[in-house]
Amino acid sequence: MNHEARLYLAAHPFVYPLMRLLARLGPVVRVPGLGVVVNDAVTARAVLTDERFRKDGPGSPGDLWTPVLGPSVLLNMEGPGHLALRRKLMPLFTPAYVSALVADVLREPLADLSARLGRGETVDLVDAMRVMAGAVICRVIGLGEVSEARARELFADGERVVSMVSLRSRRLRDRQVVIARQVLDKIGDIAQAAYEAGDESTVMGRMRAQGLSAAEARGAAGAFFLTGTETVATFVPRLIALLHDHRTRVGDLDQMIEEAMRITTPTPMMLRSVDSAARIGRVAVRPGDRVLIVTHNCARAYGPFDPSRRHPPELRRLWFGAGPHFCIGYPLALAEIRAVATVLLSHHVRVVRRRAARGVLIPTYEHLWITAA
Ligand code: HEM
Repeated sequence: MNHEARLYLAAHPFVYPLMRLLARLGPVVRVPGLGVVVNDAVTARAVLTDERFRKDGPGSPGDLWTPVLGPSVLLNMEGPGHLALRRKLMPLFTPAYVSALVADVLREPLADLSARLGRGETVDLVDAMRVMAGAVICRVIGLGEVSEARARELFADGERVVSMVSLRSRRLRDRQVVIARQVLDKIGDIAQAAYEAGDESTVMGRMRAQGLSAAEARGAAGAFFLTGTETVATFVPRLIALLHDHRTRVGDLDQMIEEAMRITTPTPMMLRSVDSAARIGRVAVRPGDRVLIVTHNCARAYGPFDPSRRHPPELRRLWFGAGPHFCIGYPLALAEIRAVATVLLSHHVRVVRRRAARGVLIPTYEHLWITAA
């Protein structure tokens, strides 16, 4: 069994085998008690770009996150309100701005990482990524210079909330909502202070300049915090492990990243709620039906890891979504991943030891010890 399958099994011992089994039953399958499962990239893209399938109805991500983040945080919105908020937020994520932000935040941590590898140390990449992804998100939500301890603390807070969700969750329990709100309130307060300070060189200051209200800025900070920390932090160790396991020679970095994304699919599933009667492939769906787009199955149908592979149009970046909800943080994620991978690859790192993480939402390593070759 390859290491990626082991990670999925450690994270989801019961759901993962079921998820892979469903892939064999066809492109679209209705599973009683679960919903309508989509395993095929063309169909997935059609659902994601069709407004009859929504993120704010029963069984959608809105059910999970609205009690914690409020009703207007992009990932639980639809229609003109969603479009208007996205338009205001888009300019915050231009490739030039996020590259400069990442270069600034990660300058010291990357210099430190590079020095440790240069000295021949064995480094736990999982731990290093937690600190770096934590530091980037601290900057995005409005903290200036942060210590390693603060970045770690913020990362752990996010992890605590994300780990409340499993691939089977439909709603958070009352007690979980209380804890998640405490965490998100803290993030909101940091964000609001930066918003009020109004410094346009910061993300929050830019939000104010874009005409976002304080409440919108608080909500956006919470959404970025929840969606943009663990996804990036868990991906980089998996990327490096894949390159090591396949003895990949350094080639086009972006192509290696996208192919590793295809194999790992950090967000293995996307949910939608059916708003009006429709067909998904051969399956008729009714209002209120829940659709589970299993991105992992859609992507894995194209074979094993091969960084020379060109992705066909239907597959292109499906792991970041498609249509109106396509990941708004994509340029930031890519800037972070590129910056760290560039340093690691310059040291030709190899994996010395590893351990899979158990009981997590996003499959990953608990530790991945690497050293310069
Ligand atoms: C490896 C990294 C990442 C992956 C794989 C990823 C994946 C995704 C996917 C699949 C969606 C669409 C979900 C759906 O349609 O149901 C999404 C949306 C979103 N992502 Fe990311 N993401 C990543 C990093 C980030 C980062 C760094 C941020 C921001 C700081 C971010 C913020 C968001 C937001 C706010 C949305 C909701 C957009 C909307 O609904 O309009 N993500 N992401």
